[in-house]
Amino acid sequence: MDWARPSIQRELQKAISGRVLLGASMKAYTSFRIGGSADLMAFPGSKEELRRLLSKIDAIDLPYKVIGKGTNLLVTDQGIRGLVIKLNDDFHGIGTQRTLPDQNSQGEEVFMRVKAATPMKKLLSHCLARGYGGMEFAVGIPGTFGGAIVQNAGSRFGEIREVLHSITLMDSKKAIWKRSAKELKFSYRNLELPVKTIVLEGLLRLQKTMKEEIKRRLREGMRLRTQSQPIGLFSAGCIFKNPPKGSAGKIIDDCGLKGLRIGDAQVSPKHANFIVNQGNATARDVLELIDLVRRKVRERRGIELSLEVKVFGEGIEFSPDGAR
Ligand code: EPU
Repeated sequence: MDWARPSIQRELQKAISGRVLLGASMKAYTSFRIGGSADLMAFPGSKEELRRLLSKIDAIDLPYKVIGKGTNLLVTDQGIRGLVIKLNDDFHGIGTQRTLPDQNSQGEEVFMRVKAATPMKKLLSHCLARGYGGMEFAVGIPGTFGGAIVQNAGSRFGEIREVLHSITLMDSKKAIWKRSAKELKFSYRNLELPVKTIVLEGLLRLQKTMKEEIKRRLREGMRLRTQSQPIGLFSAGCIFKNPPKGSAGKIIDDCGLKGLRIGDAQVSPKHANFIVNQGNATARDVLELIDLVRRKVRERRGIELSLEVKVFGEGIEFSPDGAR
């Protein structure tokens, strides 16, 4: 169904002060710079606006997806039918901290409230400026804090679940819940939440740390990334999850697939688990390249790679775990 109708746009606009766009190109909202348009796109600026928007959505059974900075996302060329929600305004921010003496170490624990739309980069600079340690594993992870939570973002130095104390979320009935991290079902690059749940904020548990030490860890993490990853090019980060044994990047590299190209989509010559958009790649180019890489890795190594990036939009031929 085509939801790109001015009458629906006008109705949604009554719920929020931020923009409601008709036919926004998802190229502008993804780090891959790929994708067709979303029928509708809305930018609610507060919990109240989000509630009002969800009421309008319920009334007409409008399908929707929430996105952050679109840094782990491939949108199909046909685009997204329904509404894309991007949290704005009041969903940014890092709140007041409570500090408690840590029972388990000599250090001091710091609790920091971070709203979902806060960019990870901003969060890391905030931690450095105040001498709060624990988030350094995330240096170079793009996107928003909410996006990092729902995907349990991480690196070889750690993942978000290790520093998360609790989260606040809005369920499909617009009720607001708090959940302790211990109750949540985190796994490798995933957090299992009931459908239509929107993460509003998270409470981090960090440690007072010498700024020099934080700076050293950030520099080292960034050095490793810059050395091995195609930073600055259009991509969605790692395409495949690492299989239980080994690294997807090394496996793809060992199969000789670095540089493999379909249209403007290319297996990065620098890190084989990245696909880069060399200019005008289409989602179809990327999906065909993903398929080709998976097929060759299956044939040559007997390993089944599953997707780490999320694929949204009409015409998806991939199941959620990346298998056809
Ligand atoms: N390697 C190769 N060739 C390649 C790529 C990697 O031989 O083309 C080798 C490396 O030399 C290294 C090993 O494979 O010995 C592992 O590589 P790397 O350190 O780059 O780590 P990774 O397992 O490929 C993971 C995360 C990255 C994260 C890095 C660094 C996944 C799927 N990937 O990559 O996360 O940045 O560790 O901590 O878990 C992402 O989530 O989007 C992402 C990029």
